[in-house]
Amino acid sequence: MEVTTSSQPLSAQEADTLIVPIFDGETPSSDAPEALAELLDSGEARRSFRSLALAHADGRRWLLVGLGSRNDFTPERARVAAVSVLERGRELSARVLCWSLPSESGADIAAAITEGTVLADYRLERFKSAEEDLDAPPKQLEALIVACPDEYAGAVSAAAVVVEAANRARDLQNRPANDLTPTALGEYAKALGEDTPGLNVEVEGRASLMARGMGAFAAVAQGSVQEPALITLRYEGTGAVGPVLSFVGKAVTFDSGGISLKPAPKMAEMKFDMSGGAAALEATAAIARLGLPVRLLTVIGATENLPSGSAIKPGDIVTAANGKTIEINNTDAEGRLVLADCLCHAVSQGAERVIDLATLTGAVIVALGSTHAGLMSNDDDFAELVESAGARTGEIVWRLPLHEEYDALVKGRFADLDNSPAARKAGTITAASFLSNFVGDVPWAHLDIAGSAWDLNRPYVGKGASGYGVRLLVELARSFAD
Ligand code: BES
Ligand code: MN
Ligand code: ZN
Repeated sequence: MEVTTSSQPLSAQEADTLIVPIFDGETPSSDAPEALAELLDSGEARRSFRSLALAHADGRRWLLVGLGSRNDFTPERARVAAVSVLERGRELSARVLCWSLPSESGADIAAAITEGTVLADYRLERFKSAEEDLDAPPKQLEALIVACPDEYAGAVSAAAVVVEAANRARDLQNRPANDLTPTALGEYAKALGEDTPGLNVEVEGRASLMARGMGAFAAVAQGSVQEPALITLRYEGTGAVGPVLSFVGKAVTFDSGGISLKPAPKMAEMKFDMSGGAAALEATAAIARLGLPVRLLTVIGATENLPSGSAIKPGDIVTAANGKTIEINNTDAEGRLVLADCLCHAVSQGAERVIDLATLTGAVIVALGSTHAGLMSNDDDFAELVESAGARTGEIVWRLPLHEEYDALVKGRFADLDNSPAARKAGTITAASFLSNFVGDVPWAHLDIAGSAWDLNRPYVGKGASGYGVRLLVELARSFAD
């Protein structure tokens, strides 16, 4: 979809469908046709949030969308209203939508309308054979025009770059494990690097993991014939002065559980276990594309977790890159093993703020559902930046505590650490507590996105892959951009 802005009046817009938003107790903007006011007067159209009414005037289609109370209106509500409009537009075979901004809106609302529209227009078609149905309405919009003051144009085009990246992350999430192998993800990252000026991409395999002493990551990878990929991306924006920010992502392209095999129902969902890596990768590319003045180091650990004659066994002891030893008491707690070495790598490569994203524990789904990602951090200031980036984007997070009593639960019996504490207590927090052993004193935040990466079911992403984290990470980078 092409996204543009225009400060022309609605009547001059080249769109088949013009969107007129309206708040409780207010009247439509002066450039809307009389027909809309008549629908409101007759009671056919309502101003309540997400209600829609259609009129035809001047040879075009006009869609009135209720926004409810002006006081309750937020960017998140704008994203949701954009979904209602898009869905009705689709039924009407709309090709080009032009949204007029609600009166007195800022650039954040213009951006949010763009986000809601582009995210909701996402379609996964690549794995289905094409059906010939000449009567079928167009599946996707051709263009979105946001009618707004010229000074909002930058915010709208930046929002489009970021949500297109989120949609690409959803494509990666949706690719099945036989298609998106760790090697394929590495190749994809390299291609992104080639397409994106200023973005440097390096991909290393099994031999490098061994040479770097990444015994935890390598242990997960040893059960699969697929070569693992350690993907490192570097970007330095012009004029960047802030600390080196680092994104670390878990990209287990398929998590069977390994010898500690998962039950068959829903195992297919574990192709999504690379969602943290997909978000880190696409956010990094979006930041480079936007040219944000930040220094960025992104590390993604890609591997499969499979049972085989060469797989790790419960009880095995391995050594991570920082020398800490780990008893692997459950091969299904593989994400923390991969991340342990990726975090060490980020820190040794100069990271000064680290945020990792991982579909790490089923426990976070029990605790927070899909609504919030779990946030754990060793640094209150950094945690606050992550929380506020989450609030601004609608990718909301909820902080859970770290504490030395949780640290005691991840101590090993035979080695320094245990990857799977026997007591089924605070599973999300003990995973974070485990990870904290690999970041030293660097301010670090961990986002457990097992609940939010898919089936988030928010109106603009629905079920399936959500691309969660791309928007939050770009917003977080913006807080280091001046
Ligand atoms: N990838 C899973 C976490 C997960 C589970 C994500 C369900 C989404 C839905 C992770 O590797 C895992 O298996 N974690 C275990 C850890 C346990 C063995 C300590 C879990 O959560 O059960
Ligand atoms: Mn697992
Ligand atoms: Zn996993």
